[in-house]
Amino acid sequence: MEQELMRIGVSLPANLLSRFDTIIAQRGYSSRSEGIRDAIRDYIVDYEWLSGEKGEKVGVITLIYNHHQRGLTDRLTDLQHESLKLIESSLHVHLDHDHCMEVVLVRGDAKDIKTLVEKMMAQKGMKHVKLTITSPGEGL
Ligand code: NI
Repeated sequence: MEQELMRIGVSLPANLLSRFDTIIAQRGYSSRSEGIRDAIRDYIVDYEWLSGEKGEKVGVITLIYNHHQRGLTDRLTDLQHESLKLIESSLHVHLDHDHCMEVVLVRGDAKDIKTLVEKMMAQKGMKHVKLTITSPGEGL
């Protein structure tokens, strides 16, 4: 059954929108709306996949963020101190004048890893958060 379409207004940085438009043009989407719908579906599938993960996992969280965002570096450090039991190691790289990359190795319950990742994603100034997880050896 065809769903009713809802209209929403979204504010985006101009450079993000122009990169998105370039990609949807290259991929042959008929409209920006169609590209946004697909991106939202991807976001939902990703979230549901992560929510379905259970038990002991090992993983890598890769963060790219704006170094100039007030309070963000401190907030990320606080988050990691609050999750001491989850975090095995981390690596910080100063990418350029404005951006930092942090790689955080985690080990623990999938639910706790998810909670930590979601808190990181929600931070203002965070540009990208990518989680890769696998099972520790005995789970394979
Ligand atoms: Ni840095």
